[in-house]
Amino acid sequence: MKQGMIRDSFGRHLNYLRISVTDRCNLNCLYCRRWDFSEYFPSSEILSYEEMLRVVRVGARLGINKVRVTGGEPFVRKDVDYFLEQLVRIDGIKDVSVTTNGVFLGEHLEKLRAAGIKRLNISLDSLKSDKYRLITGRDVFDRVWNNIMAAVGAGFEPVKVNVVVMRDTNDDEISDFAALTLKLPIHVRFIEYMPSSRYHLDQSRQMLTPDIMARVEKHGSLVPDGGRRGSAPAEMFRFEGAKGKVGFISPISAHFCSSCNRLRLTADGKLRPCLFSDCFVDVKAPLRSGMTDSDIETILKLAAIKKPKGLVDDTNGAMMPGVMSAIGG
Ligand code: 5AD
Repeated sequence: MKQGMIRDSFGRHLNYLRISVTDRCNLNCLYCRRWDFSEYFPSSEILSYEEMLRVVRVGARLGINKVRVTGGEPFVRKDVDYFLEQLVRIDGIKDVSVTTNGVFLGEHLEKLRAAGIKRLNISLDSLKSDKYRLITGRDVFDRVWNNIMAAVGAGFEPVKVNVVVMRDTNDDEISDFAALTLKLPIHVRFIEYMPSSRYHLDQSRQMLTPDIMARVEKHGSLVPDGGRRGSAPAEMFRFEGAKGKVGFISPISAHFCSSCNRLRLTADGKLRPCLFSDCFVDVKAPLRSGMTDSDIETILKLAAIKKPKGLVDDTNGAMMPGVMSAIGG
């Protein structure tokens, strides 16, 4: 391992940066609900693209080679295509991907492709218009579905569909979601709902992977797929002869902290080493007060050192110290 890489206190090499370009979102999903929209970061608090790119350039010298752009909803921020193009060009960055709710995706596919971005994660929690509206607050299921199909048609690979499973809300659709992978070359990934200190669904709505898997297996048995899991959070499977894959992300029933290789940069310039901990290091003030690249390197390393070893349940049963749109999905 190269000298000067970003390592945490437990020897994990952090090579993956998730950047939330905005905390704003055009949806308001049940599991990420905002009640008070005045809580959005004021725009003066949000890092400029140049500031974010600088953090990535410095990070790339320390071994960051993978970046995911998230939000909020990344496509609600102006000129995000420009940002993505610049990211892809940074020396050492080998993999740039985007997580989106898919509502505005269609308008960006061409530019994403031109920039060389292949990997997309799209959130979709229902295959029914009415229920989609109930979960997200917006009546845009058809649009999202068409955009997912357009992404598949345009050759994005993999197109991952993220489904947060909630009992008595969308658990009746588990089987339909899994069946999509028989004919479509997509990865459907079921995610266990994670409570946050800002907003809790009733505990009884949480459904864990063993139960989700049992419903999926009604279609036939799942064959493990994808080799060693490495640092990827999803355990991947495939139905015999299927075009796509089925995955399970189990932050509750089988958390993957020990293989976590991530750092997060929030839209307001905090480096967060752990989704489940409130610890962070501010990088905005340093960026705005003329610090050198070598100072920024030190800050990245400091954030890594603060990374907890594993789940720290310091929020009284809640896992995340805020909704995901503010921390970065
Ligand atoms: N629990 C589980 N998954 C969540 N996501 C957002 N909030 C939560 C939560 N509380 C999902 C989004 C997105 C992914 C990045 O995280 O649906 O697909």
